[in-house]
Amino acid sequence: MAQNFIATILSNDEVAEKIFKLTVDAAELAENSRAGQFVQFKISDDFTLRRPLGIASTIGGRVKIFYRVVGRGTEFLSRRQVGDSLNILGALGNGYTPRDGKVLLVGGGMGLAPLLCAAEQFSADVLMGGRTRDEVNFWQAEFRPHAEEIFLTTDDGSVGRYGFVTDALPEVLAAKNYSAILTCGPEIMMRGVARIAAAKNLPCEVSFEKRMACGLGACLSCSIDTVNGRRKVCKDGPIFDAREVFDYESDNPHD
Ligand SMILES: Cc1cc2nc3c(=O)[nH]c(=O)nc-3n(C[C@H](O)[C@H](O)[C@H](O)COP(=O)(O)OP(=O)(O)OC[C@H]3O[C@@H](n4cnc5c(N)ncnc54)[C@H](O)[C@@H]3O)c2cc1C
Ligand code: FES
Repeated sequence: MAQNFIATILSNDEVAEKIFKLTVDAAELAENSRAGQFVQFKISDDFTLRRPLGIASTIGGRVKIFYRVVGRGTEFLSRRQVGDSLNILGALGNGYTPRDGKVLLVGGGMGLAPLLCAAEQFSADVLMGGRTRDEVNFWQAEFRPHAEEIFLTTDDGSVGRYGFVTDALPEVLAAKNYSAILTCGPEIMMRGVARIAAAKNLPCEVSFEKRMACGLGACLSCSIDTVNGRRKVCKDGPIFDAREVFDYESDNPHD
């Protein structure tokens, strides 16, 4: 059940260019959150719409969020100081399905944020990708205490394997048995991951991003078409079975 919280900022630091790690003191929210869920931040009274951001960690009564500064809202958030209060609505959405056995987390860029929470809550390996060494270094440090094994790719080959996560995925799957793949990142990446999972008959859950207003299933602004009809990303998702949202026959996402 989503609630409104006033949380105190414990840290808000730039960990890579334009990428911030925000930690807030929010024990009740942490206790009631599942991996894959998100929160809506009220930025200030000057902003009508809240901003959706994924929950990246819930350990020790603290909620961690990683965000990239892309526009007015995230820029404003990046200037908030330790000790400031934030108005947070959460936890929202459905979250990843808990499973027996080890899962493989496959993420790129900021898509690694909700997967970090999955690494905390499930037995998991992670296959992570980024553009450069700087974009993956801090993620490696965050995942190390939680993921059992970390596989790495970069677009420029500056660290890990050269290429995309989808280049490395067949090899990773050949070496171990996983009960499912949980993925989050650019849609083109998730579609490639889902296709490889389908070929292996492996369950695959994807995390969808849509522009949102209410975040509570009331305004319909985040609706997408799926094989099961119209679904709301904020309420029915953001986590979907890949077969529900990707059309493998035509290789087009349903929305
Ligand atoms: C479920 C969900 C989880 C997300 N988790 C993260 C995360 O963990 N880390 C992270 O960096 N980003 C995440 N995003 C994207 C993040 O919400 C946007 O980058 C952010 O809202 C941009 O706000 P802005 O004011 O800085 O940008 P502006 O472009 O000025 O925003 C204008 C409007 O568009 C919306 N908007 C812009 N980009 C997006 C987007 N990609 N998705 C949805 N709405 C958008 C904003 O919320 C705002 O209402 C997530 C989005 C969704 C839907
Ligand atoms: S944002 Fe309003 S229904 Fe999803």
